[in-house]
Order: sequence, then C-alpha cells, then structure tokens
Amino acid sequence: MKLTLIAGTRERVAELVGQLSGAGDDVLIDGVVGSARELAAAIEGSGPDLVVLDPIRLGSIERIELERALAGAPALPLILLSPDRSPELLLWAMRVGVREVVNGGKDELRTAVERHVRRVAGTRTTVRQGRVIAFLPAKGGSGATFLATNTACALAARGKRVALIDLNLHLGDAALFVTEAQPTQTIADLSKDLARIDGTFLETGMMQARPNLWVLPAPESPEAALEIRPEAIEKIVAAARERFDFVILDVGRVLEASGLRGLDAAETIYLVVQLTLPFVHDAKRLKKMLRSLGYSRDKLRLVINRYERGTDVSSGDVERALGMRADLRVPNEFAPVAFSINHAVPVFEHQPRSAVSRAVLELADRYAPAVVPNKGLLSGLTLRFPKLTSAHEA
Ligand SMILES: Nc1ncnc2c1ncn2[C@@H]1O[C@H](COP(=O)(O)OP(=O)(O)O)[C@@H](O)[C@H]1O
Ligand SMILES: [Mg+2]
Repeated sequence: MKLTLIAGTRERVAELVGQLSGAGDDVLIDGVVGSARELAAAIEGSGPDLVVLDPIRLGSIERIELERALAGAPALPLILLSPDRSPELLLWAMRVGVREVVNGGKDELRTAVERHVRRVAGTRTTVRQGRVIAFLPAKGGSGATFLATNTACALAARGKRVALIDLNLHLGDAALFVTEAQPTQTIADLSKDLARIDGTFLETGMMQARPNLWVLPAPESPEAALEIRPEAIEKIVAAARERFDFVILDVGRVLEASGLRGLDAAETIYLVVQLTLPFVHDAKRLKKMLRSLGYSRDKLRLVINRYERGTDVSSGDVERALGMRADLRVPNEFAPVAFSINHAVPVFEHQPRSAVSRAVLELADRYAPAVVPNKGLLSGLTLRFPKLTSAHEA
C-alpha cells in the first residue's frame, strides 16, 4: 500500500520515515516536503491509500486547505500529527474527516499507521477473533440500546459467548437492559491502566448478566467518562475479541474518538433510525461522516426501528433520502419492548411471538442459527425462533 507522508522540512520527513520503518512490509512511503497546501496535489498525484500530515502550523488557512483536500478524497484516511490535542481541535479534525490525530510521541505514529495498514490489508491474526457488531443511533431514543442488548441476549441464548460493551460513555444504560444487578466495575475502571488490559483482566472485570453474556457498563459519572482514553477502548475491544465469539457495541449518539475505535473493529455498523424527519436528517449527517471517515458502504447497514405501515415518512422515503436500503425493519410494539426494558429480560423470552421478537431473532439468525428446542426434553417450553420474511436483505 502507498503512504504519502507530508512534513515541513526534509529532516522531519526523514525522521518520520525512520519512525515508520517496520510498520509493514508492503508499505511504500512517499515523502513530501510541504504542508496542508501540498496535500491536494499529493493526493491527486500519487493516489495514496493513507496520508500522514505533519504541518508546521495549523492555523485557519491550513485548516481550510486540509478540509478542501479531504473533501475531494472523502474515503482517504489521514493521520494528522499535532501537539495540540484540545477538544476543539479533535472535534474539528473529526468533522472534516481526519481519521486520527496523534501527537507524535514515541511509537504513536507507527502504531497508528500499523493499525491502518492492518485495516486496509484486512489481514487477520491467528488469535481467535470474535465478531464485532455495532449499533449506532441516528438520534437518541432510536432504539439502538434495545436492539444491541436484545441481539446480545439472543446470541448468548444460542450458545455463543457474548460481550456487550457500552460505548455510550457519558450516559450509557445498556447494562440496565440486561440485568437488575448493580455492576461493580465499569469501563472507566478497566480503562485506567492501559498496560493491564488483556483478555483475562477484561473478563474478570466484566459482569456476567446471564448465561454466556458478559457486560461492560458505561461509567456512572461523566467525570469518569472524560478520563477514558481512546487507546483503552481499542485495547478493550481487541481483548474482548480474543475471549468472546461476539462483541456487541452499544455506541453513543455522540461520536467521539473512543466510539470510533470501537467502530473501527466492527464488521457491521447498524445505523438505527425511526420514520420521522429528525431521524432522517441526523442519519444523513452521520452516514456522511462515517463514509468520510473511511467506513465502506458495505459496513454500514440501515435498521428502521419502530416500523409501521402507512406512516407519513415511509421506509422508502428514508431509503431514498439516505441512499441505503433497509437491512432490517423492527416493528413498533410499545408494550413488549417496555416490559423487556423495565424488567431487564430480552423481549423474545417474555413475548416470543411478538413481531419485535421475530425481528430481533432474525438479526441473530444472521450470525448464529437458532437452537431448536428438543421436544422431549423441553416440552412445554414456548421458546421458538421463527423466521421473519418481511424485511429484506440489503
Ligand atoms: N421497536 C420498538 N417498539 C416500541 N418501542 C421501542 C422500540 N424500540 C425502542 N423502543 C422504545 O424507545 C426507547 C428508546 O430506546 P433505546 O434503545 O434506549 O434508544 P437509544 O439507545 O437509541 O437512545 C425505549 O425506551 C423503548 O421504550
Ligand atoms: Mg442508548
């Protein structure tokens, strides 16, 4: 793969090329002396797969130049070196489609580049790699947490080892959906010491909510959430993949660097919307942002939640507005969903025949086949996993 590296001086280019040696065998580095101004030409010239930019300064003019260059190449990942890591800069960077901001400390750039090389190459290590599925609400109240938690429970019920991780760091409530027990540790506690995070540490720190299902809840306080570093999230998700068959991410509405580390690891991101205009509006913005961050069309799937026929805004309207076909429609059924959430039981256990249960189980079917109960052994049990045919595949 081709990496274009732009830095202010010849010496700096050489230094960074040196830092990147060993980042991957097949990485060809094209060093350019320049700044944000040279970005567009460099992108157009060599058609890189990845760009590293180390600008001498990043004032408003450079920012505009960078933004323009990225607008012309929305899918191109760019790693920005910047000593400034203020929330203001990070937000700006994310908004204009910068893939990652690193401060250039020892190994930091190389680690970031290696991660992108792995992603681009799609190489797999030999360690067991659980499948990562993310649920992302277009707006608060879309039903992302309900779907994430119930999918996690369905996969666990089918004998898969599942980790449910709440990446809604500020106001996450996923644990409440699956257990009435009080968690002793949250993702903030486990994130404190980066060096300690591995599969064992993670699993022992998580709360087992039901057979085969472990939960890592969001922090109790917003202050604790602020302390969590994106690197910790990346390590937690990676460790979870080694220990679990499935890692289900409940990603918050506000996309931050931490949430993005989770989305990076996801094979599929279910974007959850409802059939009203504000959802469509926010989903459009979110989709655009995710695409500009380099996530492929294929990775993003549309879920229409609280689906009903004959609504003012139809699912066809939403599909057209977003340029995506609905991957799943989850019917609107207040009572079974409310009961499920209030009692922390999956909807398909309490109301197995409801349409919403069938939709949840259809989603689970895609990842793990239903366990058909043995008649003799479990006679009298009404657990069934019927197939829903109304929603179509993308
Ligand atoms: N399919 C559905 N039918 C009826 N009500 C639903 C459905 N999905 C979600 N809800 C309701 O929407 C509320 C918000 O769901 P939640 O999963 O917390 O959304 P999010 O995580 O996107 O903010 C829930 O309290 C629930 O009552
Ligand atoms: Mg939620």
